[in-house]
Amino acid sequence: MKIAVFGTGYVGLVTALGFAKLGNKVYGIDKDMGKIESLSKGRVPFYEPGLQEILKETRGKGLVEFHTNGAKAVEEAAVIFICVGTPALPDGRADLSQVEEVARFIAENIRDYKVIAEKSTVPVKTSYWIKRTVNLYKKESVEFDVVSNPEFLREGSAVQDFFHPERIVVGTETERARNLMRQLYKDFDVPLLFTDVGTAEIIKHASNSFLAMKISFINMLAELCEKVDADVDMVSKGMGLDSRIGERFLRAGIGFGGSCFPKDLKAFYRIAEAEGVEFPLLRETERVNDLRPAKFIYKMKRAMWNLRGKKIGVLGLSFKPNTDDIREAPSLKVINLLKSEGAKIVAYDPAACKNARAVLPELRCASSPYEAAQGANAISLITEWEEFKTIDWKRIRESMETPLVFDGRNALDGRKLASLGFEYYPVGKRPIGNFNG
Ligand SMILES: NC(=O)c1ccc[n+]([C@@H]2O[C@H](COP(=O)([O-])OP(=O)(O)OC[C@H]3O[C@@H](n4cnc5c(N)ncnc54)[C@H](O)[C@@H]3O)[C@@H](O)[C@H]2O)c1
Repeated sequence: MKIAVFGTGYVGLVTALGFAKLGNKVYGIDKDMGKIESLSKGRVPFYEPGLQEILKETRGKGLVEFHTNGAKAVEEAAVIFICVGTPALPDGRADLSQVEEVARFIAENIRDYKVIAEKSTVPVKTSYWIKRTVNLYKKESVEFDVVSNPEFLREGSAVQDFFHPERIVVGTETERARNLMRQLYKDFDVPLLFTDVGTAEIIKHASNSFLAMKISFINMLAELCEKVDADVDMVSKGMGLDSRIGERFLRAGIGFGGSCFPKDLKAFYRIAEAEGVEFPLLRETERVNDLRPAKFIYKMKRAMWNLRGKKIGVLGLSFKPNTDDIREAPSLKVINLLKSEGAKIVAYDPAACKNARAVLPELRCASSPYEAAQGANAISLITEWEEFKTIDWKRIRESMETPLVFDGRNALDGRKLASLGFEYYPVGKRPIGNFNG
């Protein structure tokens, strides 16, 4: 099948290359000239494990091409995916101007029947606006369908998630569109859930909001555990063994970030509000999360007294491991708070330093965790990269001025660190170490 994908960011590029690998002919379109130039030369412009290899393979077979102008792609494709950004407006509503731009472009170039598939995360009723826009601006009398096919991939394991999703959701209005989408996904041996379009749009926002709610729930429990000397990791385990609850997304930490959860949560309660439905659970989920970085700093101050002039080695900048994405990353909030306290920061991240420095130009980035720890008064672990579990903590201990570790993700072996002479401060459980004073 011929497919067009508008937007070659994290979602669009995985979609484009995934369908190309399955033997479809794919046109990847982006208005960012730099991205298209890089892709046309065979280079993935961001970090996502496994993607580079698929680009090489599919380009080699002539199954994928990249352009800044999508006219040919619209003409040739049977299915057109919209994978552009839907960032938050200042009031929390989703900014759908990129989606409208693509809809208008499709309208100007559509000559025969197409399925237009929303893959960007959009508020319920967006399909109505896409349909109306194409109808308003189209030059010829052609038929088309708008379907909702939300994306559930996770950055860091996006390739695996594309080929082995847990479910595929498709919201359609017509049998014709349903058949085309069924054919497109014929190689996937997973539940294919067909719904109406609005329901599919809601499934995506509801899924992200529910996961965010689980995270804020366990983070509040972590605060309680710290007060009463309980162990939040064991609480999650005990809760999670109940299959009705499940252990995943019940990991206490410094809160969620990324390009999806924070903005989707906001967009979801805004759209509910616009329809006259208050959704206080969602607002509380956000409020709890927003306070996490400040509470982390408070914990540091309780152990370190003043932060002014102290050197802090920050481990991890990306919003989660295995990605270079720093959008809404808790690390940025932690660093800004540390700066306002007068601390000196040296950060290390295996992939995200460049992106972090684009928004925090004064940030000092080290080339290794050892360099970040040199002469430090404390280490703050913000992102649980696997690499941090296996570094030589004895070497780190020896190079630090004072041996404090604040583990914002409960990722490290606290007992081992304590045996090396560290004071170890996890989330939602008792600190471990030989405390002086
Ligand atoms: N990143 C994720 O993990 C993830 C997961 C599921 C869903 N989503 C959703 O998918 C959508 C895209 O997310 P992303 O992370 O890939 O964003 P992104 O910012 O990485 O990519 C969006 C791309 O769209 C391009 N673009 C904007 N306007 C365009 C236009 N008119 N024509 C062509 N290209 C255009 C941009 O240049 C950019 O490259 C969002 O709605 C997001 O919420 C993201």
